[in-house]
Amino acid sequence: MTPSRRTFIKNLSAASALAATGGVQTVFGMPAYIPNLKQVSPNDKIRIATIGMGIQGNFDTKAALRNPDVELVAVADLYDGRLTTAKTAFQNPDLFATRDYREIIARPDVDAVLVVTPDHWHDHITIAALKAGKHVYCEKPMVQHLSEGKAVIDAWKKSGKTMQVGSQRISSASFQEAKRMVQAGDIGRINYIESNSDRFNAIGAWNYSVPTDASPATVDWDKFLGDAPKRPFDAKRFFRWRNYKDYGTGVAGDLFIHLITGVHFVTNSLGPTRIFSSGNLAYWNDGRDVPDIMTSIMDYPKTDAHEAFQMVLRVNFANAGKISNVTRIIGNEGTIEFSEENLILTKKKLPQAPGYGGYDSYFTFTPEVQADFKKQYETQYPPETRTAEPIKEVKFNSPTGDDAHAKHFADFFDNIRKGSQGTIEDPVFGFRAAAPVLACNESYFEKKVVNWDPVTMTKQGSSPVASGGKKAAKRT
Ligand SMILES: NC(=O)c1ccc[n+]([C@@H]2O[C@H](COP(=O)([O-])OP(=O)(O)OC[C@H]3O[C@@H](n4cnc5c(N)ncnc54)[C@H](O)[C@@H]3O)[C@@H](O)[C@H]2O)c1
Repeated sequence: MTPSRRTFIKNLSAASALAATGGVQTVFGMPAYIPNLKQVSPNDKIRIATIGMGIQGNFDTKAALRNPDVELVAVADLYDGRLTTAKTAFQNPDLFATRDYREIIARPDVDAVLVVTPDHWHDHITIAALKAGKHVYCEKPMVQHLSEGKAVIDAWKKSGKTMQVGSQRISSASFQEAKRMVQAGDIGRINYIESNSDRFNAIGAWNYSVPTDASPATVDWDKFLGDAPKRPFDAKRFFRWRNYKDYGTGVAGDLFIHLITGVHFVTNSLGPTRIFSSGNLAYWNDGRDVPDIMTSIMDYPKTDAHEAFQMVLRVNFANAGKISNVTRIIGNEGTIEFSEENLILTKKKLPQAPGYGGYDSYFTFTPEVQADFKKQYETQYPPETRTAEPIKEVKFNSPTGDDAHAKHFADFFDNIRKGSQGTIEDPVFGFRAAAPVLACNESYFEKKVVNWDPVTMTKQGSSPVASGGKKAAKRT
């Protein structure tokens, strides 16, 4: 251990012990923040701990460790099998493993936590970790409900700690290139964005395998429920939590979030003002209470960064046809079609002259009027205004080995080392991307248009779109 790390741990241990004693971080009934006592030295290893060692917890941890000078020191999970598996997967039989995330955030040797739990736990663990003086990498969507965003942002600001939200695709080379092209004006003024993420298979529809030893003995069911309604142990709900609105955020929170994050990154947009969703549970009638088909329409207002545009997002988990998932940003001088791996820019500019003939009213004119029309047209539109620039196509392929996931973590770690809060996806950006997807769910379940102020990040009065819809029960 380097001297600076020793001092760091010494400084933090008193403060962390304080955090640990109350279980939650309060001192004499007042919220306590562990101050930013010392930044991690640029030469120090950053010690991480992952809370939630399920599918993405494993991928996130591996991506984090693909960066130099990062070490995994602890994990937390509510299913014992995953705690055992983590020790093998990360080749450390002595890895500290616990069911209780509070034991992780109380540890003085943890610099940063990765919050990779189901969505209903994101805000609670993030806020507790920031208060305990930890840097936080929190998976998307940053929060489960619109009402929870501000508290996370406040906790982050107060803590002075570094936070990154985990929609890692914006750290890919193709998203960076799309941003460069849009900002350079390559497609003119954006007017429409469309994106879809269809699937047609059980695992794609979130029916993940349930382990044979799942039981109240191997799973901490009460802890999993957290602030969700109490109910008896149900292994399906625990291992397939995305299917239930008590714990997840449906297709919008799982998939639209990546699309919206990408669009905000590329366009520098703060978000839409009107959000409307419609959908259906069409195929996966397996007890889930979230739709498997959803289309959402969002109105983005004109800002200094872009013109007004409309965005249409779709997920269909029952698409038995040809699936071609793509995002298109359409401007008045071209289109960018992109995925994580590659990008195609098509430049297409209309000529100044509108043309005449073909499927047009010109042929209905009398010969005299046609001749007169032609004369006038040729005077008004000289030859150089009559031809369009040839359509240009530019293909961009991501460099081999472009590792967006590791790069997203690299940005997090660089900012920790610099003592900066300026990550690519900080909680303000993270909430501005999460809010529209949470509004998609509100719109669907409550059958209304949600009005949103993306600048102040507050919900405005909403308008009903149908009568007779039963309001979904919603916890705040
Ligand atoms: N960025 C991405 O591309 C991406 C991809 C997949 C998932 N995710 C996100 O990652 C998160 C986890 O998804 P997943 O697919 O890994 O789910 P998962 O069910 O595989 O894993 C979640 C784990 O969290 C644990 N857990 C639940 N509550 C906990 C608590 N209070 N304390 C400690 N552990 C707790 C569970 O035991 C479980 O093992 C979700 O927010 C999801 O949206 C992001």
